[in-house]
Amino acid sequence: MKLTSTLLQTAGLLLSLGLTTEARSVQKPDPVQKPSPAAKGYSRTELCKPHHPFKPLPSSPPRTKTCHVSTYGDERDDSKFILSALKECNNGGKVVFDADKFYTIGTALDMTFLKHVDLDIQGYIKFTNDTDYWQENGFFQTYQNATTFFQLGGEDVNIYGNGTIDGNGQAWYDLYEIDDLILRPILMGIIGLNGGTIGPINLRYSPQWYHFVANSSDLLFDQINIGGLSNNNITASNTDGWDIYRSSNIVIQNSVIVNGDDCVSFKPNTTDVIVQNLSCNGSHGISVGSLGQYEGEVDIVENIYVYNITMLNAENGARIKVWPGVASELSADLQGGGGSGSVKNITYDGMYVYNVDYPIDVTQCYGQDNLTLCNDYPSSLTIADVYFKNIHGTSSGAYNPDVGTIVCSSPDVCSNIYTSDISLTNPTGGDFNVFSCANVNETLLATINCTST
Ligand SMILES: *[C@@H]1O[C@H](CO)[C@@H](O)[C@H](O)[C@H]1NC(C)=O
Ligand SMILES: *[C@@H]1O[C@H](CO)[C@@H](O)[C@H](O)[C@H]1NC(C)=O
Ligand SMILES: *[C@@H]1O[C@H](CO)[C@@H](O)[C@H](O)[C@H]1NC(C)=O
Ligand SMILES: *[C@@H]1O[C@H](CO)[C@@H](O)[C@H](O)[C@H]1NC(C)=O
Ligand SMILES: *[C@@H]1O[C@H](CO)[C@@H](O)[C@H](O)[C@H]1NC(C)=O
Ligand SMILES: *[C@@H]1O[C@H](CO)[C@@H](O)[C@H](O)[C@H]1NC(C)=O
Ligand SMILES: *[C@@H]1O[C@H](CO)[C@@H](O)[C@H](O)[C@H]1NC(C)=O
Ligand SMILES: *[C@@H]1O[C@H](CO)[C@@H](O)[C@H](O)[C@H]1NC(C)=O
Ligand SMILES: *[C@@H]1O[C@H](CO)[C@@H](O)[C@H](O)[C@H]1NC(C)=O
Ligand SMILES: *[C@@H]1O[C@H](CO)[C@@H](O)[C@H](O)[C@H]1NC(C)=O
Ligand SMILES: *[C@@H]1O[C@H](CO)[C@@H](O)[C@H](O)[C@H]1NC(C)=O
Ligand SMILES: *[C@@H]1O[C@H](CO)[C@@H](O)[C@H](O)[C@H]1NC(C)=O
Repeated sequence: MKLTSTLLQTAGLLLSLGLTTEARSVQKPDPVQKPSPAAKGYSRTELCKPHHPFKPLPSSPPRTKTCHVSTYGDERDDSKFILSALKECNNGGKVVFDADKFYTIGTALDMTFLKHVDLDIQGYIKFTNDTDYWQENGFFQTYQNATTFFQLGGEDVNIYGNGTIDGNGQAWYDLYEIDDLILRPILMGIIGLNGGTIGPINLRYSPQWYHFVANSSDLLFDQINIGGLSNNNITASNTDGWDIYRSSNIVIQNSVIVNGDDCVSFKPNTTDVIVQNLSCNGSHGISVGSLGQYEGEVDIVENIYVYNITMLNAENGARIKVWPGVASELSADLQGGGGSGSVKNITYDGMYVYNVDYPIDVTQCYGQDNLTLCNDYPSSLTIADVYFKNIHGTSSGAYNPDVGTIVCSSPDVCSNIYTSDISLTNPTGGDFNVFSCANVNETLLATINCTST
């Protein structure tokens, strides 16, 4: 197995080096900055370090044509220039947003027709703050009422250039405070994309989640910088870094995230994902779930490896969140419970935490305050083969003396949940590795001190 994948990767690298030479003869080097690794056509698999993806990632053939996107530069809608450049350079070209230029997007763009094309974003792209227009015209993705500014999909698309995409979120944060059923657009709608590298890129002020990655596969997210807080006392909430849904074989790495909800979230039917070397600040952790939200649906999350994460000032660190078997409400715009499915083969390996409420959190009572109800209506969603290892640092003290919770809703649904090499203390320093545990096999929970709930 290991030999086979090494051979495949070597073959991929040699192939791409050959393609790179060819690319040089037909393509002028970019004068503004070094081409990104994706542009150079290196094997994407080799860029994934230190852990390789579950399956090798395809490489991009060289791009042989360049189109520069025009702009009014005065906040008028530049969407038509973007669409025409994409159409002109699709199938083998590169679309450049120039470094010194400012682009405005005021139209919902359907970019699911892309194939073998690069978006070299060096300039600054900002969405308009017309909340009426976007609520009416954003792409409704059904799951959790997710709505996106654009939808970008197809085959073999790279987005890089280290420019900025700005969701102009303040108007949305302010409006959400007044009406929490508004449909706030997600900044990056990656819908049905198979093959590609995204990053380096800077993402700012998303009205809601930063990425919704759905129906996609074989993607690398590398060097993404996420940030942008509210400029007043209304918080920018639900600003997850990534939500992955119905997607497989994805790597997220080398990124810095400052946000106000999950840093990365593995939503229903996410399989084969590596997350490595992230710095998350202000988040709700790296989360499997929430799952089991919709009655009658089967949610699968399988084969996830999370490595070397720095988690600061967060609600959670390593987390698995499952709705109970009874209808529950987390907030006016988020309800659920009663779904089934399975979580299997999840590893959290290496996490440094500081000021985190629950550095480790496994719950099957998500969105429900009444514990009695969770016990009366246990979730049927199974959780198996989960490893929490090498997790160190200090909690916020929010649940003193506990620094973690591993609570399953019945003895039947959780199996093979392991902890090892955990050293977590609370800010007062008095207690060490104290956890609430229930309905788990405590003999597998090495190095932690389970107290009953
Ligand atoms: C994904 O694909 C399914 C099946 O084709 C489709 O029903 C759904 O609308 C697509 N998009 C999302 C976001 O699930
Ligand atoms: C979706 O929108 C509907 C209608 O506004 C609302 O009732 C529901 O709570 C929202 N949230 C979810 C998760 O479906
Ligand atoms: C990318 O852009 C950010 C913000 O402009 C800058 O701080 C960073 O140094 C840039 N990174 C690279 C690799 O050019
Ligand atoms: C929307 O943006 C414009 C400038 O582009 C600004 O004048 C206006 O105040 C903003 N509206 C809101 C509600 O933030
Ligand atoms: C938030 O700021 C507004 C305007 O400055 C003020 O009226 C309001 O009381 C503040 N709210 C809170 C909860 O601090
Ligand atoms: C980890 O990610 C940070 C932020 O992008 C980057 O500066 C650093 O080089 C990465 N480390 C490794 C080992 O790749
Ligand atoms: C997830 O996968 C399961 C098992 O294949 C399937 O039954 C279910 O319909 C899928 N759910 C979604 C939302 O695609
Ligand atoms: C782990 O992450 C830290 C901080 O982002 C980085 O400096 C370090 O190089 C990473 N180590 C490995 C082995 O990737
Ligand atoms: C479980 O995940 C690990 C990575 O953490 C992977 O190496 C292994 O192949 C996976 N197991 C199965 C049965 O897919
Ligand atoms: C919690 O649920 C139980 C069972 O339905 C009910 O008897 C009890 O009153 C509930 N407690 C609260 C505080 O609502
Ligand atoms: C708990 O795990 C130990 C060690 O693998 C095993 O011997 C024991 O049978 C397990 N207990 C239950 C109730 O599964
Ligand atoms: C476990 O934690 C409890 C509560 O803080 C404490 O009383 C007990 O001494 C701890 N046991 C060990 C072995 O650390």
